[in-house]
Amino acid sequence: MNIVVLPGDGIGPEVTDEAVRILDWFVTKRGLPLRMERRLFGAAAWAAEGTTMPDASWDAIMAADALLFGATGSLDQKHIPAEERRKGSLLRMRKALDVFANLRPVRAWPALAEVSPYKPRTIAGTDLVFVRELTAGVYFGTPRGIQTLPDGTRWGLNTHAYTEAEIARAARFAFTLARTRRNHVTSVDKANVMEAGALWREVVAAVHARDFPDVTLEHMLADNCALQLSRAPTRFDVIVTDNLFGDLLSDCAGAINGSLGMLPSAALSDPGPDGKRRALYEPIHGSAPDIAGKGIANPLGAILSAALLLRWTARAPAEADALEAAVATALAAGARTADIALPGESVLSTRGMADAVIAALEHP
Ligand code: NAD
Ligand code: IPM
Ligand code: MN
Repeated sequence: MNIVVLPGDGIGPEVTDEAVRILDWFVTKRGLPLRMERRLFGAAAWAAEGTTMPDASWDAIMAADALLFGATGSLDQKHIPAEERRKGSLLRMRKALDVFANLRPVRAWPALAEVSPYKPRTIAGTDLVFVRELTAGVYFGTPRGIQTLPDGTRWGLNTHAYTEAEIARAARFAFTLARTRRNHVTSVDKANVMEAGALWREVVAAVHARDFPDVTLEHMLADNCALQLSRAPTRFDVIVTDNLFGDLLSDCAGAINGSLGMLPSAALSDPGPDGKRRALYEPIHGSAPDIAGKGIANPLGAILSAALLLRWTARAPAEADALEAAVATALAAGARTADIALPGESVLSTRGMADAVIAALEHP
């Protein structure tokens, strides 16, 4: 299997290097047939080649069995023309790959109970997964732009729009996933304010009634969901929601473990004619310019994204479980990067944390 690695900006290369090192461990120690190939895009490609998306990178992205993505977002992009920025953007990749189902699993790691800003009894046992719709909604709706009205007033315009088909396939993904878990789906919208939200609710309910009556479905307004994620996160199993709410609510859930650096994601398409899903794996955090270049970023979001790759692309569930167990073991043994350390605790570098995970893999 051909895995295209896109390290990107800021801490992207730092955390991705460690995720690749972990996957290499599974290649050499467990014989998994993965081949990793690094490609430039975005600001790094602009600096090296004068384009944010070299043809060779785009062709490799489109032909890959999976992408392992670091982070995008550099402060020094103002000099790159807007059209070039779009060409090398993460959003363009997500859309072109049609990876509409963005899984963002969140669990409370017992070893981090004291690091969380929440009380241990509030978060203990949290095990939920977002299915964030990723290729439509306000991120892509048209018309969009900054326009000047005849009276000289400038306005910024975006369009929050969903077709029935876009909602239905996200819902089907969520219900199917719920059947492999605790059989409970919370569908999140603003049906009280937005027509696109009202249609979201109607279509999710119709898909449920027609094809998934065995799954428990509840509807929740997005603002209330933000509240419930902090006061009772254990009540959730699968949360299906739109692109923007999914972005915000999954960052909210990042607080459960005290750092965004802990959360992985997998963006998946439906299976194609060959039965394969297109897939883009990335930690949910960004380029973290405030800590980039110091070797202190938490690589666990990237490493847990590699575990999702093992599960969904390599179809190696035992190896995925082993990697997640190794993360739990390393944390339980006290391995901490600065973002998840209590005051006074000794901390590891990005590389040191990955070493701790590899040690746990070698001595389970
Ligand atoms: P961010 O996720 O980069 O950082 C938010 C906070 O979390 C910062 O304090 C950062 O230091 C911390 N953090 C994030 N990842 C961490 C890690 N692995 N280890 C330790 N601490 C970590 O969000 P931001 O600062 O709002 O955005 C910075 C840039 O990243 C922006 O350009 C934004 O557009 C981009 N971004 C990209 C992605 C992506 O590539 N998928 C996601 C989010 C933001
Ligand atoms: C994420 C990020 C992206 C998003 C940005 C970088 C486009 O915040 O992956 O969560 O908003 O989807
Ligand atoms: Mn985000």
